[in-house]
Amino acid sequence: MPLASLAPWAHCWLMFSWLAVNTPRSHPLNLGGGNSFVCCWWSFPQRQQELGYLGVRPPPRSFLLPPLHPQVNALDGYNRTALHYAAEKDETCVEILLEYGANPNALDGNKDTPLHWAAFKNNAECVRALLENGALVNARDYNNDTPLSWAAMKGNLESVSILLDFGAEVRVVNLKGQTPISRLVALLVRGLGTEREDSCFDLLHRAIGHFELRKNGSMPWEVTRDQQLCEKLTLLCSAPGTLQTLSRYAVRRSLGVRFLPEAVKQLPLPTSLKEYVLLLS
Ligand SMILES: *[C@@H]1O[C@H](CO)[C@@H](O)[C@H](O)[C@H]1NC(C)=O
Ligand SMILES: *[C@@H]1O[C@H](CO)[C@@H](O)[C@H](O)[C@H]1NC(C)=O
Repeated sequence: MPLASLAPWAHCWLMFSWLAVNTPRSHPLNLGGGNSFVCCWWSFPQRQQELGYLGVRPPPRSFLLPPLHPQVNALDGYNRTALHYAAEKDETCVEILLEYGANPNALDGNKDTPLHWAAFKNNAECVRALLENGALVNARDYNNDTPLSWAAMKGNLESVSILLDFGAEVRVVNLKGQTPISRLVALLVRGLGTEREDSCFDLLHRAIGHFELRKNGSMPWEVTRDQQLCEKLTLLCSAPGTLQTLSRYAVRRSLGVRFLPEAVKQLPLPTSLKEYVLLLS
């Protein structure tokens, strides 16, 4: 078919397919590689508007839909969907898949959701996009782990923070008796102890109010190997939760699973208290 007989949008599409394939990944004109990605890209309302500015008619949705739509929740050998993979890597892809009807709560072979994977890989923008599009913040996998446990076990500060903003429950216990905070402690014990991990610990500690790591009065043996950490944690565990921190937990809990910064804004409280409830102070 002679190129001249193609519709203007097809020219445009070909051009961008070409750019996607023939420019290095780091090049600003590389849109992420692969024709199907380019195809999704143009189907986005925002992109269509851009085409409009250029005086180019966007491809009709019906043209783009059939190859994608029926497959959008297809499973691979691990029972993972495309959204599970996209959630680890790329927010735009996540949004495109959701726009095409991807199930934000699809369960893979271990009953993990895309949100578990985004939290585990600390792709904070994907965590946010999923939560804004109906992902269940407290989804439990085969081990009763929530996305917060997965974020905490890697000390993923950004993801932990967003999950808490969306009302993730901190007092959850998995089938092995681990909580998000105990999983983070397991990471601290291994001695990497970066500033981010410390901030992550502080944030979870603020959210939980009070926690207990001791079983039968003594710290888990892994913790006892790091004397300094063990002393710090023993002190925190043995101090009773203050009325203030326990109230904060109760207030946050009572607001339910929702975007807490929005909910807290409506409360008849002074700004400093709102900030306190939002774990900012
Ligand atoms: C995938 O799901 C099917 C149907 O629910 C199930 O029979 C199969 O065992 C699952 N496969 C894996 C790898 O989990
Ligand atoms: C806790 O301590 C008591 C008394 O020392 C003992 O009988 C019990 O088995 C212990 N429980 C665990 C879980 O270690």
